[in-house]
Amino acid sequence: MNDSQADDNDLDKALALLREGELVGIPTETVYGLAADAANPAAVAQIFALKGRPNDHPVIVHIAGSAQLADWAVDIPAAAYALAEAFWPGPLTLILKRKPGVSDAVTGGQDTVGLRAPAHPLTQKLLQRFGGGLAAPSANQFGHVSPTTAAHVRAEFGDALPLVLDGGPCQIGVESTIVGLTSDQPTLLRPGGVAAVDIEAILGKPLIHHQNTATAQVRVSGLLDSHYAPRTPLLTGSYPALCQALSEYDAQRTALILIGDHNDVPTAGLIRSMPDDADDYAQRLYATLRELDDGHFDTLLLELPPADATWLAVNDRLRRAATARL
Ligand code: TXA
Ligand code: MG
Repeated sequence: MNDSQADDNDLDKALALLREGELVGIPTETVYGLAADAANPAAVAQIFALKGRPNDHPVIVHIAGSAQLADWAVDIPAAAYALAEAFWPGPLTLILKRKPGVSDAVTGGQDTVGLRAPAHPLTQKLLQRFGGGLAAPSANQFGHVSPTTAAHVRAEFGDALPLVLDGGPCQIGVESTIVGLTSDQPTLLRPGGVAAVDIEAILGKPLIHHQNTATAQVRVSGLLDSHYAPRTPLLTGSYPALCQALSEYDAQRTALILIGDHNDVPTAGLIRSMPDDADDYAQRLYATLRELDDGHFDTLLLELPPADATWLAVNDRLRRAATARL
């Protein structure tokens, strides 16, 4: 770890704050989280206040591993243990029936609870020492781009957040995959860091793909239409569509975000070439949107990746981040 990253002293501070019911920014392999003691409803309420998030939205409870599943959930199906065995610690969240006593502040008043064991070594250590669960949504203002560095978290909350544990840039860069296991039909509620096909291979059956209905939007806030969004208008489309649009805008005040290299790229205020590998792209997506949002452009024009399974999580986030599709 380099000098800017958290040490044991910072971990001690984080533990003390969490035990006192305060909030701490924590690194995970997906995005940074805004953490509170999940067993302390007043502490969890502070998360919603700081994020400006409606308090009927459930938050994921982060635990050290599958040994703690039964502290939070009941009627845990064998599939949950099989998925935990295969993918934890890692970017997979399981929705299970909540155990009586798990606070409404965490579940948004639903009878289910979301559980995930994150892989980041610092947060693993924190969770093992903490013993309990940490309620943690992504550490961004409601609806804004998720944070993938400690500096992003500080930019979101400033001094209102007493401590951000710096664990370096997130390795995965998009949020966890969420799988609902509360019925006989395992459901993909949000594509993310673990590929749906890999989950299906463990389950031995296909996942039902979540329909983006009005009810569903209330239950999974990440599925609201405008989410993960930069403040500068973001238009997405094919490369030819972007070139056409560029000719109609003030090119110098427009940033172009492309995949790989193109020939004869038109002049623009800034041209950013993104990786053509989906995992590498995901790792850089949010940091790129934040950086270009700070670049004082009028418009961001972004080339859409292929519509295939490897790009499912990236395309999902781009669809929600975009102001419009060209
Ligand atoms: O990778 C991640 O999942 C990150 C890191 C910090 O772990 N967390 C994250 O949290 O993305 P958040 O709150 O930004 O998104 C969690 C999603 C929300 O859409 C929430 O509605 C859904 O999980 N969720 C949590 N508990 C749920 C439940 N019991 N039923 C249905 N959806 C749930
Ligand atoms: Mg979020």
